[in-house]
Amino acid sequence: MRKIVIAGNWKMYKTQAETLDFLRHFLGLLSETPDGREVVLCAPFTALGALSKSLHGARVKVGAQNLHWEAEGAFTGEISGPMLRELGVRYVVVGHSERRQYFGETDETVNLRLKAAQAHGLTPILCVGETKQQRDAGETESVITAQIENDLVDVDQTNLIVAYEPIWAIGTGDTCESAEANRVIGVIRSLLKNPDVTIQYGGSVKPANVDELMAQPEIDGALVGGASLEPESFARIVNFQ
Ligand code: 13P
Repeated sequence: MRKIVIAGNWKMYKTQAETLDFLRHFLGLLSETPDGREVVLCAPFTALGALSKSLHGARVKVGAQNLHWEAEGAFTGEISGPMLRELGVRYVVVGHSERRQYFGETDETVNLRLKAAQAHGLTPILCVGETKQQRDAGETESVITAQIENDLVDVDQTNLIVAYEPIWAIGTGDTCESAEANRVIGVIRSLLKNPDVTIQYGGSVKPANVDELMAQPEIDGALVGGASLEPESFARIVNFQ
């Protein structure tokens, strides 16, 4: 059975005070959320402690946005799996296109981070997706296939979420058509060994398009950037119909 997982990726937004303010509004909007939907907030490292404490007993799980592959060491500016676990983190985004594009992450480091997340009891959310240029050149399938194959070497597919995030749809308001997102996610599923892996769509998911996206048979959830920053809009997404 594939689990439905709706995750907010806050990127580099929200101080601790802003996090607590968000929760004050957001948690009260989840009373109608159907059982069996996992709700996750992937916050900046500095807000994780406050988030965990405030979510104790709530149905919302805590996620981080990256981790290093070593448990400790001389890696200035990095954060490890055990450090995240201590803060009550359960999920971690790995290989987001912004990490690949701006911080030099490669399939090799993404693979190391995925294995480290699993070794420390975290569920990684692996992001894959093509650029506009690659899509226009007809390379979507080959790009996705290479990412999945290289990133998942020796990765346990029983503790994994994949997010299909076409780069041209991120932060642009230019959502991938739901049928096309469904098609590419079907391609990703055909590349996986475990048919039960949850595969999310991400890229300009909004209250106005979430119902249609989630009605697609291959789409098991959403990874939401901008629209997860505001309690009402993220609650509407979590409570999709
Ligand atoms: P937006 O929802 O702002 O397009 O961001 C998507 C994303 O990158 C989530 O990881």
